[in-house]
Amino acid sequence: MRLLIIGDLYGQIGTASAIARSRGAKVAHVADIEGAMVALRDGQGADLIMIEVREDIEKLVTLLMRERFNMPVIACGVHNDKDAAVKAIRSGAKEYIPLPPNEELIAAVLEAITEETQSLIFASAAMSKVIAMADQIAPSDASVMITGESGTGKEVIARYIHKKSKRASGTMISVNCAAIPENLLESELFGYEKGAFTGAVARRIGKFEEADGGTILLDEISEMDLRLQSKLLRVLQEREVDRIGGSKPVKVNIRVLATSNRDMQDVVKKGTFREDLYFRLNVIPLNIPSLRERKEDIQPLAEYFIEKYSKANGIPARKLSDSAINKLTQYAWQGNVRELENTMHRSVLLANGATIEPDAIFLQGVPEQAVASGGGQSRTMAAPSANNTGGLVGRTVDSVEQELILDTLNHCLGNRTHAANILGISIRTLRNKLKQYSEQGAPIPPPPTGTE
Ligand SMILES: Nc1ncnc2c1ncn2[C@@H]1O[C@H](COP(=O)(O)OP(=O)(O)OP(=O)(O)O)[C@@H](O)[C@H]1O
Ligand SMILES: [Mg+2]
Repeated sequence: MRLLIIGDLYGQIGTASAIARSRGAKVAHVADIEGAMVALRDGQGADLIMIEVREDIEKLVTLLMRERFNMPVIACGVHNDKDAAVKAIRSGAKEYIPLPPNEELIAAVLEAITEETQSLIFASAAMSKVIAMADQIAPSDASVMITGESGTGKEVIARYIHKKSKRASGTMISVNCAAIPENLLESELFGYEKGAFTGAVARRIGKFEEADGGTILLDEISEMDLRLQSKLLRVLQEREVDRIGGSKPVKVNIRVLATSNRDMQDVVKKGTFREDLYFRLNVIPLNIPSLRERKEDIQPLAEYFIEKYSKANGIPARKLSDSAINKLTQYAWQGNVRELENTMHRSVLLANGATIEPDAIFLQGVPEQAVASGGGQSRTMAAPSANNTGGLVGRTVDSVEQELILDTLNHCLGNRTHAANILGISIRTLRNKLKQYSEQGAPIPPPPTGTE
């Protein structure tokens, strides 16, 4: 967890830093917004920025967005200055912390932001096997290819491997190859020199260099275009990167983890993924089974999520009734652990008796029996049957498509990757559609924080 503080926090920087350090954060300090941008472009990563409320927070947030630095900004101000707090949040700050810094409050913010507290819950034999393998290979520097359906926990496993590795004290940088537009992914990964192209106003260190001494997670690697794949192959072979417009390569010491929810052999066969790169990345293959294949994990995961969301909402955690547990274990969970997490989040908010009963568990799809006998029905959404289109007749294909896409995205709490998977379209197609709807004025659910 890397914290970057801008300004001296009204003289409280010493106390704030000490609290953050005692909670395991690495703290860096810069005088102003310009200093922060220089540090970030220079590869000094940050997971969280704290800034004095009197600084121009809107400018900071705009600069971060423009240069694609993705980290939350927390405003700090003098106790009880309500107007300043409101203004900071309107300008794009995620939180407002009153000063002098309160130990508990800072700890809570760090905990909410950092993924280091993320738990890995499992009880099944299938998952125990995967974890045993992860434990065994974590200390080596070998590349790992983590595959599995969307929402099975690939990123959770990747973080687990990093934490158990010799590089645990280094950083883990995660890059979603599908979420970043093609033309930006190259500069994001490799960085660039000042003047390398129009708009390259200053040198920018790429993610490979930022991950130096640590781990880089290339999420959804199957979506990387072929030209970048050959550049990546060179990084893996030579352990050096060429910044765009750079005159000499820069050595990097990184471990590479990659994830994909596609069948990699299939994309290799289709010619959209280089076979030699696949072999380099697939030194250790880890396949995460779907939740359907490890039903013993459903109840412990559900209880964990109830606990988590009850705590976050300040309400006591309710127990699941037996019939609720039954309902959960019967369900097909096409969206895997993520769908279970979203479902339990809703249940926590909807339940009102002493226990969580089946009526507080909203499942959008079909029970597993129906999937099994449904002749290839494999989507979470229940499709209208062929003779039941009455409600749709009279509507255009475009409008039905828009409704389906936005409903699915809402169901996934804004997660683009998961929604695209359920819809059976590529994430790029989904993005293009959303852009089009947004231009037409439709409200688009925002992505969950920290994911995209
Ligand atoms: N074993 C687990 N214990 C606790 N939480 C889990 C576990 N597996 C997954 N989760 C939670 O489920 C959600 C989805 O997990 P994750 O993002 O790792 O999935 P993924 O396989 O990378 O999905 P995608 O392919 O869509 O990117 C996250 O919120 C994660 O914290
Ligand atoms: Mg993922």
